[in-house]
Amino acid sequence: METLSGVAATQELVGQWRRGGLSVGLVPTMGYLHQGHVSLIEAARAENDKVVVSIFVNPTQFGPNEDLEAYPRDKERDLKICEREGVALVFAPTVEEMYIQGAATKVGVTGLSEVLCGRFRPIHFNGVCLVCSKLFNITKPNKAYFGLKDAQQFFILERLVKDLNFDLELVSCPIVREPDGLALSSRNAYLSPDQRKAATVLSRALKAAKNECEKGQRDGQALTKLIAEMVGAEPLARLEYAEVVSTENLSQVTTITSSVLVAAALWLGKTRLIDNFIFSPPVS
Ligand code: PAF
Repeated sequence: METLSGVAATQELVGQWRRGGLSVGLVPTMGYLHQGHVSLIEAARAENDKVVVSIFVNPTQFGPNEDLEAYPRDKERDLKICEREGVALVFAPTVEEMYIQGAATKVGVTGLSEVLCGRFRPIHFNGVCLVCSKLFNITKPNKAYFGLKDAQQFFILERLVKDLNFDLELVSCPIVREPDGLALSSRNAYLSPDQRKAATVLSRALKAAKNECEKGQRDGQALTKLIAEMVGAEPLARLEYAEVVSTENLSQVTTITSSVLVAAALWLGKTRLIDNFIFSPPVS
């Protein structure tokens, strides 16, 4: 396995692979890898000759009062996991390498970035779009893999790839969960034992909402109310939002007639967690 921090060296190596007819799968990460990332690496390995994992805690996607400094990091452990999983190249640049002095270009997807998490994290998705555009140009993947815990991120990146004609395919992979339902996230490491127990309320509330959908509930408000009530019953948790939106354009849905994303975010102390499910009503 190669580990590179330089942009030019990375472009050179992946360029050689691509010219030699090899396909490249990119798994973009902010490190502190967990089983969710491993599932993306596995999917990438199954479909590509070479897998590139990027490890970069991207400062442009953190707001001024967010957890950039505190974000968990363990590069040695990450490299061991990548090696074990058959990754061909880890691209782990410094901030200075990624954002050269004088950099002045912005990238963003309007509309989709302003709803759900975007209402509470106004610069977040523009930072994600910028760094992913750069990662796509640096690692030249045929396919790039993203987890659906960040479903909004995936929908935004799909729009970005279409709008800017990036010559690659985005692949979404299912949410990976702890046995008690908590969606895997590097941020789970922040939770105290009490908060960790309380955190299951998020997946429990979403599961209850999903069951209602499957039993025929089509009223978006009834679903968000159910989620709010369940989260409200957990004293350690504070709900930030629960919404039912169309998977087409992320606009709010009052009556479910086609595929929806049901997404929620909550706070446990200083830790913010998100989770969601996608529901497509059976065609009658
Ligand atoms: O999902 C993430 O971990 C990040 O948002 C990403 C896609 C690696 C961009 O920094």
